[in-house]
Amino acid sequence: MCSASGVLRRYLVGVPDPRPIPIPASIDSSRVPEHIALVMDGNGRWAQQRGLPRTDGHSAGEEALVDAAYGALAVGVKHLTVYAFSTENWRRPLDEVRFLMGFNESLLRRRRDELNEVGVRITFSGRRDRRVPRSVLRNMDEAAELTKNNRVMTLNLAFNYGGRAEIIDAVKSLVEDGIPAHKITEKAIASRLYHPEIPDPDLVIRPSGEYRISNFLLWEIAYSELVFNDILWPDYRREDLYAAIEEYQGRQRRFGGVES
Ligand code: IPE
Ligand code: IPE
Ligand code: MG
Repeated sequence: MCSASGVLRRYLVGVPDPRPIPIPASIDSSRVPEHIALVMDGNGRWAQQRGLPRTDGHSAGEEALVDAAYGALAVGVKHLTVYAFSTENWRRPLDEVRFLMGFNESLLRRRRDELNEVGVRITFSGRRDRRVPRSVLRNMDEAAELTKNNRVMTLNLAFNYGGRAEIIDAVKSLVEDGIPAHKITEKAIASRLYHPEIPDPDLVIRPSGEYRISNFLLWEIAYSELVFNDILWPDYRREDLYAAIEEYQGRQRRFGGVES
């Protein structure tokens, strides 16, 4: 949890918000989730409903992502992780996979300066395997390098990301360092995840009417609050994020204990 005020002050001196709207008074600024994880799902269905190719849905999702990111910034979220491409998404038709690679690359190129100016640190979670084109990796590295000292908010892009792959990678790195079995603890595994410095998500949001996790942040979401809704990702806007935060604030988190 964190207070929105300090963040807002810093944020307002940056690039003007393209769509400034008031934050609902019903949101308690002292209990804003520190880390929100979002599954950007429903692009294909959004396009199909309009008689468009699925890839147009991915393109239309950019505005949703930028608006949600500005909304998260405005309300004082410290970390926003968005699911952009899963380790299972390679199963899609080659044309769509190619489009998604190029689209994510160009999105980074087009948006990194603006995100940098408003104090966003861009990071990535996922496997850097040979299937990801080099130019995409290069753009990821450039965006991360450009924004590495920013502290207003982390925008963590889960790209070629799988929750199981992340756990496997963490365990492998412990084994490679010769860590003995009795030292394999929760803390040890957590320390080898892709971004150990980012706290576990307080809130996971899955739009598009699917009620599943789809291999997203399996380790980190052990005690996250889950919010589902029917909005297809390209239609998602910060108002929807605010509604999810309100729902989150109405939940009682117990972490296995009892209410004190
Ligand atoms: C999410 O939208 C984007 C990615 C998974 C890359 P989808 O492409 O999954 O859209 P639907 O779920 O088929 O509608
Ligand atoms: C999850 O959506 C992955 C991303 C949004 C990147 P999918 O569309 O791939 O998930 P499933 O196949 O419906 O579970
Ligand atoms: Mg989908």
